[in-house]
Amino acid sequence: MKTLTIHGTQGDSQILIGESFRNFKKYLPTEQVVVITDTNVNRLYGKYFADYPIIEIGLGEKSKTLATISDIIGRMLELKIDRKGFVLAVGGGIVTDVAGFAASIYQRGIAFGFISGTLLSQVDASVGGKNGVNFEGFKNMVGTFNQPRFVICDPLILNTLQPQQLNCGFAEIVKHTLIADRQMFEYLENNAARALAREPEVIEALVENSVNIKSAIVNRDEKEHGERRKLNLGHTYGHAAEKVLGVSHGEAVSLGLVVAARLSVKRGLLSQPDADRIVRLLQSLNLPTVITGDKQAIYNALELDKKREGTQINFVLMRGIGDVVIEKIDINELKQIEL
Ligand SMILES: NC(=O)c1ccc[n+]([C@@H]2O[C@H](COP(=O)([O-])OP(=O)(O)OC[C@H]3O[C@@H](n4cnc5c(N)ncnc54)[C@H](O)[C@@H]3O)[C@@H](O)[C@H]2O)c1
Ligand SMILES: [Zn+2]
Repeated sequence: MKTLTIHGTQGDSQILIGESFRNFKKYLPTEQVVVITDTNVNRLYGKYFADYPIIEIGLGEKSKTLATISDIIGRMLELKIDRKGFVLAVGGGIVTDVAGFAASIYQRGIAFGFISGTLLSQVDASVGGKNGVNFEGFKNMVGTFNQPRFVICDPLILNTLQPQQLNCGFAEIVKHTLIADRQMFEYLENNAARALAREPEVIEALVENSVNIKSAIVNRDEKEHGERRKLNLGHTYGHAAEKVLGVSHGEAVSLGLVVAARLSVKRGLLSQPDADRIVRLLQSLNLPTVITGDKQAIYNALELDKKREGTQINFVLMRGIGDVVIEKIDINELKQIEL
């Protein structure tokens, strides 16, 4: 097992990589615990948490709302959880975002920890202290920055994941290697089949690397003033594609990474062979690299992007594999990219 520490302004977070989720009791600071999970995870893993009250939330983004937060807070009051209580979230990014936010505002904030159920939450959602919910259809509009006490990343809990959910995690892992680690990109090229087969040793190495990269960036820029924006690689275009094409987040990020790579080649920042390698790696992880839907609708959605300044947007580009740079680009430049 490896332990990594994130230093947040609200306290430190221990990321426990390779720890069995069954050892969770070791990390609980109190017996006054409430478990928050979703319907699927409760069905699969609820029995391990039978010693504690369980609050179950529904599935999908539609459950990531203030109404769910209100229900959770009502249940916690009924359970007489006080300021010394502890929230243990067990599940994917939706559960951890919702539970982290509920814990952060309940009685002005109580401590919380995560057992990360999806690869995406292990490599991304559980790391960095952002939590929150959607508001009137807009993603993550309400929330706080607040670190969980601990995050357990058990590779074996991922064995019950649907393949498509695994892919979402791989897209973020590729993103992290592109931002900061050429060697890990090469490791992933050589081990893509083992990663897809969920070999614990490979998954652990990938999770550790991603957590290291994301936490190093977050440690330097917790509140997204500067460097943290590098983590948006593939996401500006990706978010628009996700909204318009109705593909999963990971699939959309994969398309966004291809667009960023092609644009980086056009700007003379990235070599064509490196861009080809990126496309091949995404394909070998069963991620899409070609758009079959309405590209114009994606540009329209981009024009509404919140980071827009005129027709210029801040875009994360690659200066080689393992190195990124943020440049202003014009949306019209994107329209010239073949995908
Ligand atoms: N806070 C952040 O910094 C951050 C970063 C990235 C993403 N996110 C958020 O994360 C969310 C997406 O996360 P996600 O993809 O993990 O979604 P999710 O929580 O919906 O999980 C995906 C599916 O997997 C199921 N599941 C979870 N663990 C499982 C397990 N061990 N075995 C079987 N099934 C399991 C869930 O029930 C769900 O159906 C989005 O809402 C996104 O905004 C947050
Ligand atoms: Zn993402």
